[in-house]
Amino acid sequence: MRFLAPPTDLNVGGKIHGGAVMKWIDEAAYICAAGWSGRYCVTVYVGGIRFYQPIHAGDLVEIHAQLAYTGTTSMHIAVDVRASNPQKLRFTQTTHCIIIFVALDENGRPVPVPKWHPRTEQEKALEKYVVRLMELRKAIEAEMKPHLGEPSEDQPAAGREAGVQ
Ligand SMILES: CC(C)(COP(=O)(O)OP(=O)(O)OC[C@H]1O[C@@H](n2cnc3c(N)ncnc32)[C@H](O)[C@@H]1OP(=O)(O)O)[C@@H](O)C(=O)NCCC(=O)NCCS
Repeated sequence: MRFLAPPTDLNVGGKIHGGAVMKWIDEAAYICAAGWSGRYCVTVYVGGIRFYQPIHAGDLVEIHAQLAYTGTTSMHIAVDVRASNPQKLRFTQTTHCIIIFVALDENGRPVPVPKWHPRTEQEKALEKYVVRLMELRKAIEAEMKPHLGEPSEDQPAAGREAGVQ
């Protein structure tokens, strides 16, 4: 995706809002996932998002989404965001992340996607990278689990938060 960063997406500091960048990332990855699977897809995970440089209103933004790995129903997509003053065309990388989409059937259930087979060295390296991230995520998710506030059988999470007995 290529477009000019709109002035309507500025934060209180006068730079493009991080939330706007995350929306663009989600949209670019959605195009990639929907195109590969031929299905409606939803985001299940966004990981390792890092904002390296700010984006300014009027910058030319380029968002590159590349399929890195397919599971049974999931597609792991590497997204890179670059931006430049359009008068200079010297792009700098502003953001990188991995985002995972799942393809859904007509009933909203996960449905298998075509297998992605990396061919080039770059594609193989990217696949290796996301597979390694998957392994690391297992440890991270185990650490996060006690903090997720999952509902117990006799007390839903929303009720607990509101102090409902
Ligand atoms: C997508 C959804 C229907 C999947 O339901 P589910 O019960 O988790 O389904 P499954 O357990 O079969 O998992 C489906 C896939 O998601 C992957 N997945 C689930 N949780 C994940 C996580 N935390 N990180 C990475 N992948 C995950 C599974 O590995 C599986 O992939 P695979 O088939 O390639 O192995 C459900 O999670 C959902 O509706 N989530 C909300 C989506 C949403 O609203 N997104 C924001 C707006 S688009």
